[in-house]
Amino acid sequence: MSLDGRKALVTGGAAGIGAAVARGLADRGAHVVVADLDGGAAEKLAADLGGSAWAVDLLDTAALEDLRLDCDILVNNAGIQKVAPIQEYDPEAFRRIQRLMVEAPFLLVRAALPHMYERGWGRVINLSSVHGLRASAFKSAYVTAKHALEGLSKVTALEGAEHGVTSNCINPGYVRTALVEKQIKDQAQTHGIPESEVLEKVMLTEMAIKRLVEPSEVASLACWLASDDAGMVTGASYTMDGGWSAR
Ligand SMILES: NC(=O)c1ccc[n+]([C@@H]2O[C@H](COP(=O)([O-])OP(=O)(O)OC[C@H]3O[C@@H](n4cnc5c(N)ncnc54)[C@H](O)[C@@H]3O)[C@@H](O)[C@H]2O)c1
Repeated sequence: MSLDGRKALVTGGAAGIGAAVARGLADRGAHVVVADLDGGAAEKLAADLGGSAWAVDLLDTAALEDLRLDCDILVNNAGIQKVAPIQEYDPEAFRRIQRLMVEAPFLLVRAALPHMYERGWGRVINLSSVHGLRASAFKSAYVTAKHALEGLSKVTALEGAEHGVTSNCINPGYVRTALVEKQIKDQAQTHGIPESEVLEKVMLTEMAIKRLVEPSEVASLACWLASDDAGMVTGASYTMDGGWSAR
């Protein structure tokens, strides 16, 4: 599954799942561009991986409209979350989530396809979620954005097929990232229960396997999707949710 000679771009690549994917792709020989709002962390990881950093705020979508990318593997990973009931949901927060998690991926795919079509090979990997396939209360913006990303991924698959470009989604349940770790502490305090019980009693109720997904597990799937072995896999959505979507 060598990725020697391939150039990859990972958005939100400085932390969490993105950092694990960046590391996995680099371990397999790809030159990785770590694109992140946190330029310092992106620089640090890129130096460690022998790749390069792109300090970018992907919410500034106007700046992406004239972009041309020369990457062979595009990983749309950057994402944020905000939880609130619909009637109280801040409209600007809703728009921000669509901008970062739908509009920016569209513009990056748009920027990358000409190079991929020229080379007759490309991989678009979209970090969706079980929430691209299932809903949860209080996550209207996130669930809407992830469902939209599923649509974008499938259209990219259809248009890219004759050019050797595949496009797929990865759909994890809860993954052990800094964001989720912090939620565990907060939930333990809010519910007055030990941190060890938060997973089973609060966060993992829908997952049949009662543990968090590890970022390295998501990275392993992303690396396979990026490989030549996955050349016939396109327009698909691969769950890694411990059985959540089996319900
Ligand atoms: N953690 C989970 O449980 C989980 C589950 C399913 C899907 N996902 C998805 O996986 C992706 C990564 O999640 P994570 O948990 O690793 O998140 P994270 O918060 O740990 O990391 C996100 C990264 O994105 C960067 N980022 C945020 N806003 C940005 C912006 N405007 N421009 C550029 N970079 C920006 C952050 O700086 C950070 O490095 C997201 O799309 C998320 O929706 C996460």
